[in-house]
Amino acid sequence: MILPLDDAAIARAADLIRAGQPVAVPTETVYGLAADATSGEAVARIYAAKGRPSFNPLIVHVASMAQAETLAVIGPVARRLADAFWPGPLTMVLPLGAGSPVSSLVTAGLPTLALRMPAHPAMKALIEASGRPLAAPSANASGRISATRAEHVASSLGDRVPLVLDGGPTRHGIESTIVAVEPERLRLLRPGPITAEHLSDAGGLPVDTVEDGRIEAPGQLSSHYAPGKPVRLEATGRLPGEWLIGFGPIEGDDNLSPIGDPIEAAARLFDALHRADAAEPPAIAIAPIPRTGLGHAINDRLKRAAAPR
Ligand code: TXA
Ligand code: MG
Repeated sequence: MILPLDDAAIARAADLIRAGQPVAVPTETVYGLAADATSGEAVARIYAAKGRPSFNPLIVHVASMAQAETLAVIGPVARRLADAFWPGPLTMVLPLGAGSPVSSLVTAGLPTLALRMPAHPAMKALIEASGRPLAAPSANASGRISATRAEHVASSLGDRVPLVLDGGPTRHGIESTIVAVEPERLRLLRPGPITAEHLSDAGGLPVDTVEDGRIEAPGQLSSHYAPGKPVRLEATGRLPGEWLIGFGPIEGDDNLSPIGDPIEAAARLFDALHRADAAEPPAIAIAPIPRTGLGHAINDRLKRAAAPR
């Protein structure tokens, strides 16, 4: 359903967010498909709606600096950049805060968090009304063009999204600039409306640019997700020395979803891998996950976790 942006539509969207559903909402860059960043199942529904075959880390959207500080570590350089460009089309990759309530499916298990404070009043209102930080990738089907109008969202995602808030065409029409904030330098991970020059002026640090301007997506690098132990896939039982991550009827030491629900399994995946890594047995085995729905994304990630390294 598409609703014109007004207070009633925001209230309705906030109810859906609190119920763990995704909602499409305009920002000044592109439309985002937003869900509660603190709920693994809500975030898994974003991936399901987009039909994304792999889990890339997502940007979390906040409405205030106080909220940002509960999620990530805001050092002096990040603070300068926030003063200069927030709210606006800048995403900063920062160290994940200790005790950050963000689901590990949002960070794809990484120790960093991509954070953005958008300027568009719709996103701000939805964050405030729902009381949740919102994870949101662009609101388009996986591999398709980003949505800059409510109709694009509807034609790309259709019934898979219960509500699209229509705020008209977006101002920038391209995604936010992404910069990794490190102690000695800034790294431009994705070019966007805020340029490298703007960043180095405001941040007081040099900016390294990823050469060809491609997105540096950690999700594409197998080693990023690999546990520190060998991983065996499609395991229907436990061999000596293995910690078994089960699914459905294959019980295991841990179980991604006893009822065999891929949404639940996706929500638990990275936590389960971390637990397996920390457990005593020197190897990890993982039960077969059916290749349906989010099962594709789960298997894509598991394939990388098990790849020779
Ligand atoms: O303008 C935008 O940024 C839009 C609106 C909705 O906010 N969102 C957006 O999200 O473009 P998405 O998912 O299409 O792109 C986010 C990218 C991912 O592809 C990933 O490479 C990068 O952000 N990213 C997220 N977390 C990261 C992290 N911890 N480290 C490095 N890159 C990260
Ligand atoms: Mg995108």
